[in-house]
Amino acid sequence: MSNYENYQRVSRFYDHTRSAGGVEIIRKQLEDAEVPVNQQILVDAGCGTGLYSAALVKDVRRIEAVDMSREMLALARQKMKTEDEINRINFHHSSIDSLPLDDNSADSVIINQVLHHLPDDTSNGWSNHANVFREFCRILKSGGILIINSCSPEQIESGFWFYHLIPDAVQEMKQKVISLSNLNNLLEDCGFTFPRQIVPEDLVLQGDAYFNADGIFDPDWRNGDSIWSIVSEDILAMVLNKVRDLRQTGKLEAYIKQQDQKRKTTGQVTFSIARKI
Ligand SMILES: C[S@@+](CC[C@H](N)C(=O)[O-])C[C@H]1O[C@@H](n2cnc3c(N)ncnc32)[C@H](O)[C@@H]1O
Repeated sequence: MSNYENYQRVSRFYDHTRSAGGVEIIRKQLEDAEVPVNQQILVDAGCGTGLYSAALVKDVRRIEAVDMSREMLALARQKMKTEDEINRINFHHSSIDSLPLDDNSADSVIINQVLHHLPDDTSNGWSNHANVFREFCRILKSGGILIINSCSPEQIESGFWFYHLIPDAVQEMKQKVISLSNLNNLLEDCGFTFPRQIVPEDLVLQGDAYFNADGIFDPDWRNGDSIWSIVSEDILAMVLNKVRDLRQTGKLEAYIKQQDQKRKTTGQVTFSIARKI
């Protein structure tokens, strides 16, 4: 469960700006695994509204979709309603650090944009991350594949044009985001190979909505990024005033373009791919 985002509330808006970004990267990794993709049992850890499960449900033998939010799970269920889909997916209301799945029972695990919600930071040695990775190791078969979609601290710093407006929230969020070197070491400690990393430089989490200059005024748009849940009402009002000024003086588009420059090299997300040893 996230200790800062309220998924009971956000569930209704989540799909307005989010999609299964980078699913083609995930599909390629699954296809390259030893077990043929159509025979794989895939775990979608923190499946949310089921965007990735829905995109992959017909590729694999079965999905075990797990989330702690009943509201997010309910929306995931609604996405996969045909008989074929229902037969290929099980939903579990559970935390991902204690999965209701047998040892050595899964061929692959995906975890998309969930790690930063674990109650960890730099000060506690990422112990909840370790618990989750050990749990993935327990349920994966030997050679099973783990695909993590997360943002690095550098991507939080430079990958989102509007983060420049909320520097305190960015610093706070960076504390919740594990560095790639810590992630790599932790995965090795928890029984995985040293991961490979892929950064799709053109992938933006909110799709076209990310480039909508007026989006920031829309609570729906802000609900597509959990960083807004750690921005106070006062700061938000100041930020919106600043953006309104930029809009009125005709400078908003140029501001966005400038603040978005670094994203083109850092990207917004990193896919880390490891195998259970
Ligand atoms: C940003 S959403 C990502 C949803 C989905 N993976 C996607 O990318 O569209 C984060 C999800 O992680 C879930 N979550 C956070 N911590 C969790 C935990 N410890 N166990 C299970 N689910 C968790 C939340 O309920 C939420 O649905």
